[in-house]
Amino acid sequence: MTEALQETPQQASPRRAVFHPLTVSAVRRLTEDAIEVSFAVPAELAGQYDYLPGQYVALRTELEGQQIRRSYSICAEPVPGEIRVAIKRDLGGLFSTWANANLKAGDVLDVMSPMGAFISRHGMTEMNHPEQLLGEGAKAGGSFVAFAAGSGITPVIAIARTLLAASPETTFDLVYANKAAMDVMFLEELADLKDKYPSRLGLHHVLSREQRISPLLSGRIDAAKLATLFETVLDTDDVDEWFLCGPFELVQLCRDTLAARGVAAEKVRFELFSTGTPDRPEGQAGRPVVVDESARNYSISFTLDGLTGKVSSPTHARESILNAALRVRPDVPFACAGGVCGTCRAKVVSGSVEMDENYALEPDEVAKGYVLTCQSHPTTDEVAVDFDA
Ligand code: FES
Repeated sequence: MTEALQETPQQASPRRAVFHPLTVSAVRRLTEDAIEVSFAVPAELAGQYDYLPGQYVALRTELEGQQIRRSYSICAEPVPGEIRVAIKRDLGGLFSTWANANLKAGDVLDVMSPMGAFISRHGMTEMNHPEQLLGEGAKAGGSFVAFAAGSGITPVIAIARTLLAASPETTFDLVYANKAAMDVMFLEELADLKDKYPSRLGLHHVLSREQRISPLLSGRIDAAKLATLFETVLDTDDVDEWFLCGPFELVQLCRDTLAARGVAAEKVRFELFSTGTPDRPEGQAGRPVVVDESARNYSISFTLDGLTGKVSSPTHARESILNAALRVRPDVPFACAGGVCGTCRAKVVSGSVEMDENYALEPDEVAKGYVLTCQSHPTTDEVAVDFDA
């Protein structure tokens, strides 16, 4: 049996990412290049769309005859009956360009249930599932610092709002990098938040192409600027948790600098902008691969929603587990196809794989056998993964 599905007695996970059509309830322009989109969540789906600040949803629609999926961070603290995301227009981005020009209240898009590990774990001893609540430590207060660049503010503003509201003891410093003032998303909301928490929120706008009064807040964030920020504004010693969200170079610079200053990796949460090329075929429905049963193939089995499927993958094709699985199950979960979002996470239950990139899984998840199937290639003739685990 090469490409087939069979029942397994396994119980499906109650909270694997699933798409439902949701209606757009409002579209609000944030900047010339960015919109905030609100979706109404019907009461019967409420349990599938609860989330923790910092998580994201994937959106799915059909454009120009092809199915498009993109993931966007949720930009609001949890509110019953609503999910809000911000969509910034990417240069050449098919979906983001279309959405910025056309999306309006009343439109319907497929929206995936929220996912993602870019959440506060302060006070959590285990990597908790999204349904679970903010860590006890976060509710008891703490000191938090975030670095965000551009649309990286989206999950960070949701996290900041929630943590500041969770405890009167919380302090939150936000360093937010943009090219110019006109590019700053949520400018008013951040100012309102500062008004609400004047002594507990430190707001540091850094503009790379505009001169601000303080030279520290002008120009790109590089190693020297970061060192000065740590010497003058941010004290690494007393921070309970760090949040980094932006392009790879900035996030990596911050991670390296924090590590060099002795900050434990467990205190640092990060999320990258997608590194993949979102319009490539792998990002949509799988790269076409022709299977020749007489040639040497890997045998990949995977369990999803209690159904086990099996698919052959030519060894020379070096395709990902996700790519192979999509041939027999178009509903296999994925969003970025670039190792960033974590939507395609599964557990290896037999055989082994190697992962190209991993910007989504925590070390403890990798130690438990979880992999990103969009980045994983078999290293044994037979391999089995479980998306429900
Ligand atoms: S689909 Fe995003 S990490 Fe694999």
